Amino acid sequence: MSGLKTVIFGLQLFTFLHFKFSQMNFYTRKLIKPEDLNANNTLFGGSLLRWLDEEAAIYTIVQLGTNKCVTKFMSEINFISSARQGDIIELGIKAVSFGRTSLTLTCQVRNKITQKLILTIDKMVFVSVDEDGVPTPHGKTEITYTDERLRED
Ligand SMILES: CC(C)(COP(=O)(O)OP(=O)(O)OC[C@H]1O[C@@H](n2cnc3c(N)ncnc32)[C@H](O)[C@@H]1OP(=O)(O)O)[C@@H](O)C(=O)NCCC(=O)NCCS
Repeated sequence: MSGLKTVIFGLQLFTFLHFKFSQMNFYTRKLIKPEDLNANNTLFGGSLLRWLDEEAAIYTIVQLGTNKCVTKFMSEINFISSARQGDIIELGIKAVSFGRTSLTLTCQVRNKITQKLILTIDKMVFVSVDEDGVPTPHGKTEITYTDERLRED
């Protein structure tokens, strides 16, 4: 009976993870070049985080329809595996909740060819701010799959 419970739990976990990651948008791909490597000749973590922060910022701008937003919070960053020169990686982002002034995202990076996970960040929060840098309501509640919000007044 406990074996059956384990199988059911495994299936539920698989379904959850499959749903969570299959909904993620992988817009940006990167070719790993010599200048992206660390002393170990693998992808430098700082380069990856810079790309990811920019990708997440662009995603947030599209979702909130404003470029006045700042990175507020990043949860634990898990570097699961690495990449080497010549590898192609892809960056995935998904909005998980819209707050009053904030937007919470989840992120992952994987090898485009092997699909092996390279990095996950469970939670990344951006905040919409006014001209003085004070949090301001963004008024959005749902994910958009177009860039229409950028053209709203
Ligand atoms: C972003 C900033 C304006 C927010 O100021 P603040 O005083 O924390 O604002 P608030 O307490 O009103 O919180 C604003 C939103 O962020 C959320 N938030 C604040 N701290 C958070 C945290 N640690 N984790 C998750 N969300 C957080 C709040 O829940 C709120 O969301 P909501 O309005 O959707 O409910 C301010 O912290 C700041 O300027 N930080 C520097 C940002 C920056 O320069 N980033 C670039 C990297 S250096």
